[in-house]
Amino acid sequence: MTLNERLTAYSKLVEQQLLTYIQPEEDKGQGIIYEACRYSAMAGGKRLRPALVLEFCRVCGGDQQAALPFACALEMIHTYSLIHDDLPCMDDDDLRRGKPTNHKVYGEATAVLAGDGLLNLAFETASDPKNTAMVSAETQVQAIRALSRASGMDGMIGGQVLDMAAEETRISLDQLKTLQELKTGALIGVAAQLGCLIGHASEEQMAAALEYARCIGLAFQIQDDILDIEGDAETFGKSIGSDAENGKSTYPSLLGLERCHELVHELSQQAVDALTPFTDAGILPELALSLADRQK
Ligand code: IPE
Ligand code: IPE
Ligand code: MG
Ligand code: MG
Ligand code: MG
Repeated sequence: MTLNERLTAYSKLVEQQLLTYIQPEEDKGQGIIYEACRYSAMAGGKRLRPALVLEFCRVCGGDQQAALPFACALEMIHTYSLIHDDLPCMDDDDLRRGKPTNHKVYGEATAVLAGDGLLNLAFETASDPKNTAMVSAETQVQAIRALSRASGMDGMIGGQVLDMAAEETRISLDQLKTLQELKTGALIGVAAQLGCLIGHASEEQMAAALEYARCIGLAFQIQDDILDIEGDAETFGKSIGSDAENGKSTYPSLLGLERCHELVHELSQQAVDALTPFTDAGILPELALSLADRQK
């Protein structure tokens, strides 16, 4: 399978499954919140994080079906982070995944609750024995703990706090690196970690996967910051210029665009080099390189 064929297959699998998870067991009149969750979750993101979970699990020799609920849980958390990130009290953006942002359609209160709802549903999904019969209780608890930590105050939420604190101020490159490692790196890192946990990776493979994820996570956010300046809103699916408008501290604001383009390529190559403990790394090398040229 080519890179695109495999990514498309993973997206289909994840999207079918997300649709079954984001449904009320019983309609008690709360249907609108499920509708708001499905609106953002089914708006057609790249599904990078679930693809990493599934591919790392596969190259470790694990079963894709076992990893799928965790891949979906991670995509729910990612989607919640985007809904909240777009709120007027945060980045105040109107366009996401090529569509009006959640709060533009459903209002702020429902958007806050939809984010909260997806966060809770993620952990319900990852802990439901109906979904996780193929995973040992020990692995399941490890996976849930890793997911909680990466999403929380020492992970993505912590990164969002640093991101807001760094608005309209000049921070050092080290501070920016920490900000990005938490804001974006944590969820990309846990994607690799979940795939390896469920695929029963060796310690060496786990370390390699985390290094790969560290490199593509950083490259991914730098490219996101580049596209916020140079991208095309229609292709990117988000408004251009949001970072400058909010006075964000970004890699381009500190290093300039040219150095950022170089860095993205260097980091992608570094990610590929990290994969040596895998005899067959599947689509992972090509995926890392493709992210350096992504336009969306
Ligand atoms: C957007 O993530 C937020 C960042 C961490 C830059 P993605 O670029 O993966 O967003 P979707 O899931 O494809 O919409
Ligand atoms: C946010 O980074 C990453 C999250 C934790 C949601 P950005 O604010 O740069 O993400 P986009 O550009 O809005 O997707
Ligand atoms: Mg933001
Ligand atoms: Mg944003
Ligand atoms: Mg951005």
